[in-house]
Amino acid sequence: MKTLKFSNNDEMPALGLGTWKSQPGEVYNAIREALKMGYRHIDCAAIYGNEAEIGQAFTDSFAAGDVKREDLWVTSKLWNNSHLKNDVRPALEKTLEDLQLDYIDLYLMHWPVALKPGVGFPTSGKDFLSIEEIPVSTTWKAMENLVGNGLAKHLGVSNFSIKKINKLLGVCEIRPEANQIELHPYLQQNQMLEYCNKENIALTAYSPLGSMDRPQAFKAPNEPSLFEIPAIVRIAEKNGFSPAQVLIRWAIQRGTSVIPKSVNPGRMKQNLKTLELQLTEEDMKEIATLDKHARFVVGGFWAMPGSGYTLETLWDE
Ligand code: A2P
Repeated sequence: MKTLKFSNNDEMPALGLGTWKSQPGEVYNAIREALKMGYRHIDCAAIYGNEAEIGQAFTDSFAAGDVKREDLWVTSKLWNNSHLKNDVRPALEKTLEDLQLDYIDLYLMHWPVALKPGVGFPTSGKDFLSIEEIPVSTTWKAMENLVGNGLAKHLGVSNFSIKKINKLLGVCEIRPEANQIELHPYLQQNQMLEYCNKENIALTAYSPLGSMDRPQAFKAPNEPSLFEIPAIVRIAEKNGFSPAQVLIRWAIQRGTSVIPKSVNPGRMKQNLKTLELQLTEEDMKEIATLDKHARFVVGGFWAMPGSGYTLETLWDE
């Protein structure tokens, strides 16, 4: 399987299975099937609310001999309500307990946004801690200790801008080795890709298919479907691929890793098959023209009045 190599030669499979929005009740089966069909990278997060069920699927897959722990790459993410220095380790310990694992391959800071301890999702500006109260560097320091004591193999960030990564690089002892951000033909983030290549940071594409199964409250009216972009449909038809396969293959050919979510074994198989497909240079060039710098995950929920965060300070653009 194509991989992204880390500086100690550990390799993250380029294609992973996303689990955001995978519901308890269906995610167990999705993980069992994924591991049987050859997925070796599973992307998780505490806030997805399904890590316990994923953990049961891991344990049962190991017991059944479908995969060995050392052949599996598992990513998880520190939720925003655990940024205080004494809350970081317990947060990962809870994730590891739920996932029934001894260590995580990659642990990401989910957002450069802090919530008060105990707040799952904010309902008012009072639920936030400002960046002055809890700077990213303090949380990062606590994350670095997780590597020292063997709970995490690699550290990274998610939803970070170039400016924020740069700032972190200036103060960290252990470098962030990954950034997970929204990436698809309408949000190509070429500068970020260049920057990450230069800094040896693995870039992972979330919402590569447009995350149409997001809760309605997080969707804008009349959102476009990536599956219906005429150029994507044309390239799919020409090559005998599905539009989803074009979107996934595009991400892999750009050198990013990509984590399409599915709980449907047929679609999971279709998505895995993109590893064997190839887009032509012309296809890639045509897709490059589609960029609109348009996000599906706008981050507006962090920019509520009184939170201390705005969309400008969140994305630095
Ligand atoms: P399902 O889980 O029922 O397969 P994203 O990865 O951008 O968050 O998008 C996930 C959404 O895309 C889910 O609704 C998922 O549905 C759907 N999906 C995943 N793979 C495919 C595919 N190959 N074709 C069409 N839809 C897909």
